[in-house]
Amino acid sequence: MAKLVINETKKMGEIAPEVYGHFSEHLGRCIYEGLYVGENSDIPNVNGMRTDVVEALKEMQVPLLRWPGGCFADEYHWMDGIGDKSKRKKMINTHWGGVMEDNSFGTDEFMELCRQLGCKTYVNGNLGSGTVQEMSQWVEYMTLDGVSPMADLRKENGHPEPYKLDYFAVGNENWGCGGNMRPQYYGDLYRRYQTYLRQYNPDRKFKKIACGANNNDYHWTEEVLKTCFDHSPEHEHGFMDLISLHYYDMPYGWDPKVSATKFDDECYYRTLNKAYVMDEYVSRHCDILDQYDPDKKIGLAVDEWGTWFEVEPGTNPGFLYQQNTIRDALVAGITLNIFNKHCDRVKMACIAQMVNVLQSVILTDGEKMIKTPTYHVFHMYRHHQGAELLGSSITGTTEIGVEDGFKVPDLTESVSEKDGIITITVSNQSLTDAKELDVIFAEKKSFEIVEAKLVGGADPHDHNTFEDPEKVVEKDFEDYKTEGGLKLNIPAASVVEIRLK
Ligand code: AHR
Repeated sequence: MAKLVINETKKMGEIAPEVYGHFSEHLGRCIYEGLYVGENSDIPNVNGMRTDVVEALKEMQVPLLRWPGGCFADEYHWMDGIGDKSKRKKMINTHWGGVMEDNSFGTDEFMELCRQLGCKTYVNGNLGSGTVQEMSQWVEYMTLDGVSPMADLRKENGHPEPYKLDYFAVGNENWGCGGNMRPQYYGDLYRRYQTYLRQYNPDRKFKKIACGANNNDYHWTEEVLKTCFDHSPEHEHGFMDLISLHYYDMPYGWDPKVSATKFDDECYYRTLNKAYVMDEYVSRHCDILDQYDPDKKIGLAVDEWGTWFEVEPGTNPGFLYQQNTIRDALVAGITLNIFNKHCDRVKMACIAQMVNVLQSVILTDGEKMIKTPTYHVFHMYRHHQGAELLGSSITGTTEIGVEDGFKVPDLTESVSEKDGIITITVSNQSLTDAKELDVIFAEKKSFEIVEAKLVGGADPHDHNTFEDPEKVVEKDFEDYKTEGGLKLNIPAASVVEIRLK
């Protein structure tokens, strides 16, 4: 039997709510159709935002939303997306399907969406093809209270008050679609551009994010930090509050891409192995950060993560629309447990992407909407947001899988506490075996179960469709005993949450 030992007296720091963040790009049907349908749509909406989607997202508790890209960000010129919608410039979305972008969703609409969701705002600036002036003026438009050309423009557009901008990134994937730069060059540009991102409101400062690495490109992280830290001491923390990391789970790499719903056992375990690799990547990027910033003032923002499969048959390859099964729920469970355990450094993460793109929490078809298995894991794990990570470790796990080099431990876990309630989340990766887990506390002698939930525990190919929207939902979990201590029996291919006090 496996054992989960929880040291409830060992508080390891807050799990930043932003770790449960989301990403929305002008890509396929994420923004248009998925989140925004416009004020004149027959689909019920508030100021153009789909009511059904916003309500579902609020239930799931969205702490943060990143926008407008992605690769789109480094070709986006924000001034094209403000003012009278009938006069906004149209453009071709060259990255994603070559479709026409009419700019009807711009800065003011993004801020309205975040207002409705009650979440923090994360805007990604254009370094690749934009100017310092353009980036600087965007921040001025969003945040300056008082009289200035950009603040006046915002007021003319019907928004007298400045917005609350929480995070601003200087470019996206500048090692690739954001300009194919070398890290030293990017580091120099980061230093220059961020200089002109003024903090107009000292009481409501936004945090600056530098573009970090792809996957295990440790050289990028090292060189960007070196370049940004090579300066006079009065400029603390290399001028950045966070540095990013992007990592997508592709079971066989870029080629061949595999179906989101049809996969064999080997592919299943490869996918979960690739999710588990996040732990190694995060740890090693953190080791580099530790050399430059031992006091951990700079956060790691894993602001793109998730599965990347073949698009659904018959859909535009540039739209990245994929289904989402119990396998995706396990990827989410494993990954979020990893982030929780790295809460000392991982201060933000954004799953890609929120609606209709890659590992989405919601899929839409016209006026229909479904929640994916990944949605249910995020909903279950919401209790970790802002909670204190507790010391925990698991023994008696087994490496499972069908191929050497692509095995994964059968169980992962994380434990936190908030308002006197302990939340335990466990994923069981095994396709075939339920796993007994004995939960042992350092000091706690008695407890009362507050809630026990489960996602999965069925055929890992199961997924929700517009015809069968509730095939995979969050269910009550009942297979546990409380006499003489807590004993769980975690079903195969499931993610479980137990809350107790
Ligand atoms: O999420 C899809 C794309 O993946 C993003 O635009 C880009 O940043 C990444 O390569």
